[in-house]
Formats: sequence, structure tokens, C-alpha cells
Amino acid sequence: MKPVRIGIVGFGAVGRATASIISQHVDLIERRSRIRLEVTVICRRSGVRPQDIPDGARFVSDWRELVAAPDVDIVVEVMGGTDQSLQLVRAALEGGKPVVTANKNLLAEHGDALFALAASRNLPIGFEASVASSIPIVRVIHESTTGDRLSAVYGIMNGTANYILTQMEDRGIEFDKALKEAQEEGYAEADPSLDIDGVDSRDKLCILARMAFGGRLNISRIPTCGIRQIRAADVRAVNRLDSTIRLIGSAENTESGVEVSVRPWMVSRHSMLARVRGVNNAIFVSGSKIGTQMFYGRGAGGDATGAVVVSDLIEIGRDLVQGHLRARSAVGFVDSPEMKICENPRPVRWYLGLNVKDQRGVVARVAEVIARYDIHLESLGQEPRMSKDELSLGITVEAVSEPLICRAVDEINALQFLTRPVLLLRIE
Ligand code: HSE
Repeated sequence: MKPVRIGIVGFGAVGRATASIISQHVDLIERRSRIRLEVTVICRRSGVRPQDIPDGARFVSDWRELVAAPDVDIVVEVMGGTDQSLQLVRAALEGGKPVVTANKNLLAEHGDALFALAASRNLPIGFEASVASSIPIVRVIHESTTGDRLSAVYGIMNGTANYILTQMEDRGIEFDKALKEAQEEGYAEADPSLDIDGVDSRDKLCILARMAFGGRLNISRIPTCGIRQIRAADVRAVNRLDSTIRLIGSAENTESGVEVSVRPWMVSRHSMLARVRGVNNAIFVSGSKIGTQMFYGRGAGGDATGAVVVSDLIEIGRDLVQGHLRARSAVGFVDSPEMKICENPRPVRWYLGLNVKDQRGVVARVAEVIARYDIHLESLGQEPRMSKDELSLGITVEAVSEPLICRAVDEINALQFLTRPVLLLRIE
């Protein structure tokens, strides 16, 4: 059987795992899928140790050489970033080669142009691995739920952030230590600020919302807040309310437009979201007929992501072998209207985590600001026996819109006794 020849650009955790899974599973893939995959060329700017080069493959340091190579049928882009990767994917498609990518950043920023190019050449871009790693959520939205009108897609979309939050919760460790561990485990992006500042979740949410609601959405329109500001004391304070913290990407299609955001939420410890632990992701998809479905699994890591890259390669490889190579659905990217964003999000409940220097009247001053915005306090708690230099106060308020609570929080942040900005959590 003539093999389908693969060129891999980027040889970090995902690139290495992709090559290794192909070599481990080559016979299994042939039995299950009737095609044979073979890695012929790999490329990495910073070089590769000779022992890491797959048997029978050769190494090149310039991706242009890989894209032009006559013995590469499908190009895998797992280098990350949006500059070189954009040029690379363009060049591959222009050269008539299908692409498989795990790069959500690239698709969230340049998906319109790339899917249009792919459509014009009738070539597929496989991007299942770009969102939620092992969870086949792209297929679910593109293929399995198209009979319904989807009303929401939301959930935990970043494994690194979830790993950090659950480690802080379980072991009481500080943020920096948990982040270092996530990096050592190979979950974090090369630039971990993408994970902890919510950017990676924003990009994934953007892709999912576009596909689910069939409209174009610029990433700059997604309010994004990450978890960098969360301290072990905040996690303890939230735990005392029988709740915990999760970083949630959420897009809801309401009558007045799409409500979309990435931010940390306070969720009940008994909720499904709280039960998603470690590096796992969970994506919820709601539709008028299907109700709410939850898709759960590993959200990061070389093997989990590499296995999904290989599945995309198999699907495209099958079409290639049968001479049926074709562009895939690009709903939300090509020929789609601009998505209407809701300007007045519905009221929801909020948690405010305050860290203050102890002095008389602290609570009264904060309560006064909240009352002035006509916001109703729901609960107020203070961690006992803390240092007077840094007291931790936890406040929950009744449902108000995001712009209103943000204005009140801005004013509270200006109070001189605050030792760091208020931690604002949306309550599930
Ligand atoms: N760094 C990402 C995460 C993995 O932690 O979820 C790939 O998206």
C-alpha cells in the first residue's frame, strides 16, 4: 500500500508525540483505517537531536523546504505562534497540500483568510486538535449537532489553568508553584501567559462560537480575564462558601446577541464544572432540542493532542488515497455574517475577593460603594486569624450586569486600604 507521507513542522511536545504515535500505531491505523501513514520530513528551527528523528525521516531546518518536498503529502503545523505558522499554512495550501494544525491562536486570528484559501483550492484544514486537545468537539459542532439551533457553548478550555486551580485547591499551594508544575508536565504553551491570562481559552472559545453560531467573531471582542491574580488565600475563601474557582469560556446566543467572555467563575463544589479536575477540559454544548451535553477529557499534553492530530491525518489521508480530497466545512469563517455581540449582558451574581490592610471602617466603606451602585449584598465573610497587613474579605452580591459590577469594582480598587486589586468571579 502506498503510504500517505507526512511532514511535521514544529517538534515540541505535540510534534514529537505525533511522530511517535504514527510509528507506534502504524499497523493498527492500517487495519482500522486502510491507510498507511509515514513521517518523511520533520522541521524545527532550533534543531532536533538525531535520536529523536523518526526512522526513515529526514530533518530540515527551513519549513519552506518541507512544504515543497515532493515526498510530503500532508503538512502538520504544530509550531505555534501566528507569524511563521501563517506563512507556512498559506504556502502549503497554495502548493496544493492539505494541512493539519493544532494552532488555535492562528485560526482565531487568521481563520477567515486561511479557510477562504483552503476553500478556493478545495483543500481541507484539519484542526480538531486546536480546541480542547483530546475532546472531538470540532466534529461534534460541525457534524453531530447541525440539526439543532445551538444556544450556548461554554466550559473549561485550558488544561494548564485547570491544573493550576485544582492543585491550589487540593494542596493549598501558591499559584507560581502550581504553574511551574504544569510547565514541567508539558501542559503549558511555550509562552504560559497564553494559558494563565485566558488568551488560549479565548482563542478556543472564538473558534467554537464561530462554528456553533455561524458568524464571524473578532477575538478583540471577547472580554478576557485569566487566573494570574488568584492566590491560595482566595481559593480558601471561596472554598469556605462550599465553592471553588474555574476558568470558564462562555458564549451564549441570546435574543439580543451573543454574550461572550472568558473569566474565572466561582462554582459550587458539587457542580459538574468543579468535578473537572487537573489537566482535563469539559465543553458544554446546549441546543433547543438536544438540551445540554457535556464533553469531557484531557485538554492538554503531547500525547492527547498528538493522537488527535493523527486522527485528522487519517481522515484526510483516506480522502487523499481515494482521490476525494476536498475542503471541509468552514461555517463561521467563510461566507458568514459578523456575529452580533450583546451590549447589555444579563445580570448574574458575583463574588468579590478583597485583600485589605486592616483598619476601622473598611467593610463600611466597601459596602457604601456597593450600595451606591444599587447592588445588593448577599453575603460577607472574613477569614479569621489573618495578618492585619493582609485581611481577606469575601463578598457575594445579587445579580447585576457585568458593566455595573465592573464600575463598582473600579471604585473599590481605588480605596487606599486595598493591598491588591479585587478578585472578581462570576458565580455560576
Ligand atoms: N496549553 C493548552 C492548555 C494546551 O493548557 O490547555 C493546548 O491547547
